[in-house]
Amino acid sequence: MKKGRTAGIPAWKRGLLVGMIGLMAVGAAAGIRDRQAEREGQRAMVMGEAPGEKGQSLQDAGKQTQKRETKKIALTFDDGPHPYYTEELLDGLAERNVKATFFLLGQNIEGREEIIKRMAEEGHLIGNHTYYHVDITRLEDEEACREILDTSEKITAITGQPVEYIRPPFGNWDKELECEVTMLPIFWSVDTLDWTTRNVDQIVQKVVTDIEENDIILMHDSYDSTVKAALRIIDLLQAEGYEFVTADELILE
Ligand code: NI
Repeated sequence: MKKGRTAGIPAWKRGLLVGMIGLMAVGAAAGIRDRQAEREGQRAMVMGEAPGEKGQSLQDAGKQTQKRETKKIALTFDDGPHPYYTEELLDGLAERNVKATFFLLGQNIEGREEIIKRMAEEGHLIGNHTYYHVDITRLEDEEACREILDTSEKITAITGQPVEYIRPPFGNWDKELECEVTMLPIFWSVDTLDWTTRNVDQIVQKVVTDIEENDIILMHDSYDSTVKAALRIIDLLQAEGYEFVTADELILE
């Protein structure tokens, strides 16, 4: 007889052991299903419907909301894509199963279509950062709209998805601006100043010290130091129980 791990254990005990392992597996599967349902509930809220409209009872949806305990935060990257550093960042995000948000400049899109396609395929949120990094409030409406619409059009041509969110450069947004397509602005709550310091330790320190639940962190994927800092921030904050989500999840909740 082959000597396995259960050799020497009486048959009734082996049965008990197998039963317990079976129960644990069922429990784990139920946990996965719960998390899945929870995510769908959140997604429903982002889409503007009440959770529960998709076949689950409102009571269940309520329970799921109560059960949710993860602290959510969002990493956002402006001014890209960069021909080298953005891909390096995407590799690191994929390894860590983290979703981020990228606000692209129209002028940086040509020749980098594959990077943008990858962003969309890997579940990141892609937003608009105008075509030439302009201050919207200093332009005539027509020109401002062209900056926005041309950028969105280029992104949609690659991803096949509409662009709904904008990060206005310098944080200057004109609420009265009416273009053909309505855009929702997404600002930030933590400014890493990564583009000016380019210092990995300083960027990490700033975020890890200041961070609070639902924070939206501003970074730029055009620097080696930012990529290194972002991945270190993820490793540190995941260990503290933070969950990294796309920025739309935080502004619409
Ligand atoms: Ni910018």
